[in-house]
Amino acid sequence: KRLILVGPPGSGKGTQSPIIKDEYCLCHLATGDMLRAAVAAKTPLGIKAKEAMEKGELVSDDLVVGIIDEAMKKPSCQKGFILDGFPRTVVQAEKLDQMLEKQGIKIDKVLNFAIDDSILEERITGRWIHPSSGRSYHTKFAPPKVPGVDDVTGEPLIQRKDDTAAVLKSRLEAFHKQTEPVIDYYTKKGIVANLRAEKPPKDVTAEVEKVLS
Ligand code: AP5
Ligand code: ZN
Repeated sequence: KRLILVGPPGSGKGTQSPIIKDEYCLCHLATGDMLRAAVAAKTPLGIKAKEAMEKGELVSDDLVVGIIDEAMKKPSCQKGFILDGFPRTVVQAEKLDQMLEKQGIKIDKVLNFAIDDSILEERITGRWIHPSSGRSYHTKFAPPKVPGVDDVTGEPLIQRKDDTAAVLKSRLEAFHKQTEPVIDYYTKKGIVANLRAEKPPKDVTAEVEKVLS
């Protein structure tokens, strides 16, 4: 299966991705995770992306399209993939269509994590992540076994620099202005499935499974 996960910051894309990935043996391509890794490693790409990310603005279309184009060539992505956080602009969606057309493949479903903005601040400000695996926790909704420590590796958890109430405002603005048109783009193609992302994680997983079965 070839899937796109779209939704505002904190809607649960990164939480559901590993579950879908394991169940369907897909590769998980999250542009946000890849960009954060590039920023941490201070690569040329990371240096270009850092400022926009810290302000909660989108990184340029050319940069992210380049990352996805490269990543989709991996052998593990040939059977199917989950695009988490890409495409986020109509230009990115059009570029993706061109890339897929060249390979003679199509997106099967776009999972729309529909949720009210008012719930997101609590989710974002309570999030803790394990940077190298991308695992995320929440102080209230998904606490780690030991506070501040990753369940699997025992390594320390950190908070994302953009996970503040102030930066969330810009991220939400970018979502409504630039990413909501992407949902319309795929709705016209008839491949959008709307999820009730405000429900508990298990219920969202059940909805995903229903859509994909
Ligand atoms: P990115 O990393 O993609 O961030 P985002 O879209 O803002 O999404 P989040 O990762 O914040 O939310 P999520 O939906 O994954 O939530 P999660 O599951 O972790 O992008 C970061 C930045 O990179 C962008 O701002 C931009 O600058 C740049 N960028 C990335 N892609 C780009 C692109 N294509 N073009 C241009 N720029 C790009 O959940 C959040 C919290 O809630 C967690 O603590 C979790 O435990 C908890 N939680 C999850 N589900 C539930 C639930 N059902 N109930 C209760 N709590 C829950
Ligand atoms: Zn995420």
